[in-house]
Amino acid sequence: MSLRVAVVGSGPAGIYTAEALVKQSAGPVEVDVLERLPTPYGLVRYGVAPDHTSIKSIANYLQRVLELPQVRFLGGVTLGSEVSVDDLLACYDAVVYCTGAMVDRRMGIPGEDLVGSVAATDFVNWYCGHPDVSPDRFTLDSPEVAVIGVGNVAVDVVRVLAKTAEELSSTDVPDDVLARLADSQVKAIHMIGRRGPEHAKFTLKELRELGELANADVCVRPDEAVVLGGDFPRQVKGNIDVLRSWAERAPVGRPRRLDVRFWLRPVEILGTTRVEGLRLERTRLSEDGRVVGTGEFETLPVGMVLRSVGYQSVALPGVPFSNETMTVPNVEGRVRDREYVAGWLKRGPTGVIGTNKSDAAETVRTLLADDPHGRVASIDELLSARGVRPVTYEDWRAIEQAEASLARTLGRGERVKLVGLEAMLAACGRVVT
Ligand SMILES: Cc1cc2nc3c(=O)[nH]c(=O)nc-3n(C[C@H](O)[C@H](O)[C@H](O)COP(=O)(O)OP(=O)(O)OC[C@H]3O[C@@H](n4cnc5c(N)ncnc54)[C@H](O)[C@@H]3O)c2cc1C
Ligand SMILES: NC(=O)c1ccc[n+]([C@@H]2O[C@H](COP(=O)([O-])OP(=O)(O)OC[C@H]3O[C@@H](n4cnc5c(N)ncnc54)[C@H](OP(=O)(O)O)[C@@H]3O)[C@@H](O)[C@H]2O)c1
Repeated sequence: MSLRVAVVGSGPAGIYTAEALVKQSAGPVEVDVLERLPTPYGLVRYGVAPDHTSIKSIANYLQRVLELPQVRFLGGVTLGSEVSVDDLLACYDAVVYCTGAMVDRRMGIPGEDLVGSVAATDFVNWYCGHPDVSPDRFTLDSPEVAVIGVGNVAVDVVRVLAKTAEELSSTDVPDDVLARLADSQVKAIHMIGRRGPEHAKFTLKELRELGELANADVCVRPDEAVVLGGDFPRQVKGNIDVLRSWAERAPVGRPRRLDVRFWLRPVEILGTTRVEGLRLERTRLSEDGRVVGTGEFETLPVGMVLRSVGYQSVALPGVPFSNETMTVPNVEGRVRDREYVAGWLKRGPTGVIGTNKSDAAETVRTLLADDPHGRVASIDELLSARGVRPVTYEDWRAIEQAEASLARTLGRGERVKLVGLEAMLAACGRVVT
């Protein structure tokens, strides 16, 4: 009898898990990849920046996994809604949870909930055309914007804010979002790091791209680019060198300006109903390496604050979850009997797409060594009895074709995202129920 496995979530972790199951299993294996959206690839589709087309092309690799005869894509099936953990354990020998990290971390400062204080998760979902966020969600009507955090997501957000709509028109950004970007009033972007250049989380390649923006001058204050000590890893040294070189160059009058700031922590987002400013406190490191305030404050006159301070996983109903680590507790991917985890849900929201491949391989090694068995029912019969008709791989390909056709009609690149479940389901001849 073959091994039947449910993989929940079709991001990189889910699809690498499916691939590893097929490649590593000595006997026959059947894998269903269940996904709450009608579309696969998780953050590759709804996270990776639209102008990073070569990274987005990883989808071509993931597509080949979904085309393996042992693998099925079941879109529009949410764990916790259409199916429960008990259902999955009845229909499969093992279940691998790969649902990623979908929400933002909070900063815990006053004003965080004012209108105009925006989680990067929402902003990224907006420009990526995620069905959870409507294209009219954001109007970029404020001339000054602060982006909190100096990680790679903050760099993506800054780049999208700094570029012109023309520069983004050949990407897959939804047309209505592109129109909002064309109307952007943003003139100044402040990117805020609470520690120094040597502690920034962005990577060198991504940082360098900011210096190549045609539409924005990038400025660093010489006093904030000072770094004491010198024995840094190559990537960090590269970041420091780039930031120092920017500190030495003068703006040349490009339409937008990006200020990359360090040693400042947000203490309050100001405003009564909506964001009117951001109060920052200068910081230093304490002797035990903590970020502490110096009592010196500065206020930026921003009308929008984008909080890019990291993603966070959410508990799945019926699945163990640690509120301390915000991950599913596991040992080498094993959660409980016949239950496993991989990807950001397993190790937290860090790491590039490729990191999930070795991570998934570890989980699959554990699973196959356990040799789990226990299914007693059929998922197809269960879903059919509930009136659930999953979005198939062929349906997804029809959505892709509609996106390519939309791009041709609009004279824009290879693909323009369809927005909203209704439009996506209509593209594959389905109606929203
Ligand atoms: C904004 C952003 C940009 C990034 N850009 C890059 C980049 O350029 N290069 C790079 O290498 N890495 C990048 N990364 C990192 C990379 O995207 C992650 O390492 C990777 O996506 C994590 O994979 P995952 O499968 O664990 O999670 P995800 O990709 O988030 O996939 C999780 C999937 O689970 C689905 N799901 C969630 N809940 C349920 C449920 N209850 N039932 C069914 N399905 C569910 C989701 O819809 C989603 O499809 C970026 C990350 C972010 C946040
Ligand atoms: N092109 C790419 O390869 C790419 C693109 C996007 C994302 N990714 C990957 O995806 C993962 C997630 O990226 P991310 O940018 O969301 O997370 P991240 O790399 O963890 O960066 C988070 C940033 O937020 C800061 N921060 C956290 N809490 C804060 C607070 N309360 N106040 C002020 N600042 C705070 C952190 O500063 P401290 O360091 O001081 O905590 C850090 O600068 C990373 O592994 C990233 O490399 C890769």
